[in-house]
Amino acid sequence: MRTNLRIFSGAELVLESVVTPLDLARGFARSAPLEVDLGCGDGAFLVALAEGSPDRNFLGVEQMPGRVRGACRKIGDRALPNARILRLEISHSLSLFPRGSVDVFHLLFPDPWPKRRHHVRRVVTPEFLRAAARALAGGGIFQIKTDQEDYLGAMKQAAGGVRELEAIVEDEDRPGPTTTFEERFRAAGLPIFRLTLRKFSVPRGSMAATARSI
Ligand SMILES: C[S@@+](CC[C@H](N)C(=O)[O-])C[C@H]1O[C@@H](n2cnc3c(N)ncnc32)[C@H](O)[C@@H]1O
Repeated sequence: MRTNLRIFSGAELVLESVVTPLDLARGFARSAPLEVDLGCGDGAFLVALAEGSPDRNFLGVEQMPGRVRGACRKIGDRALPNARILRLEISHSLSLFPRGSVDVFHLLFPDPWPKRRHHVRRVVTPEFLRAAARALAGGGIFQIKTDQEDYLGAMKQAAGGVRELEAIVEDEDRPGPTTTFEERFRAAGLPIFRLTLRKFSVPRGSMAATARSI
């Protein structure tokens, strides 16, 4: 059987191959619902989530080695068995999750690239969201926050082209911890914009097809 064997280095999951699907049960030494924090930064949010929900697994994906080390240190200090870090580019990481294996993705304050000529560097594209939708379980959530209103607009537009996802209206923040960047932005009095996407439990179109076939 093809699995992605990894060597544990504290809380960091080290891939032996960057193209083979993640073996999540092995990485966490158990099976449990999975939440993924894409661009987890210093890991403060991930650790708070993991402490609050010991029955769930939490994986942070981050590209900067210093932040990976900091996040691993926090997990190690608390001896959290349900939090792990993967040092990888987040768009690439999406292709490694087995189909339907993720309950919740968090993408909180992705690098904003505010200058128009840098917009091509923004991670959220229709392809990115399609890859996330493939990894999400039916009914799974993709939660996004940003301080950039124009990025929010671009993300909504990208989501509109992904038939597996629907935008859901949530009047209030989901309960739970806030991230380091959110706290920084709130302290500076800056606005925070949210977008919550949900994967359809039943693929769109299949209900109609079933009805027609009866
Ligand atoms: C603005 S910070 C936000 C960190 C954290 N989510 C928070 O809200 O406090 C963005 C983080 O995403 C990471 N990041 C940005 N683009 C990435 C990519 N393509 N792959 C992996 N990590 C990325 C950055 O290194 C940084 O730690």
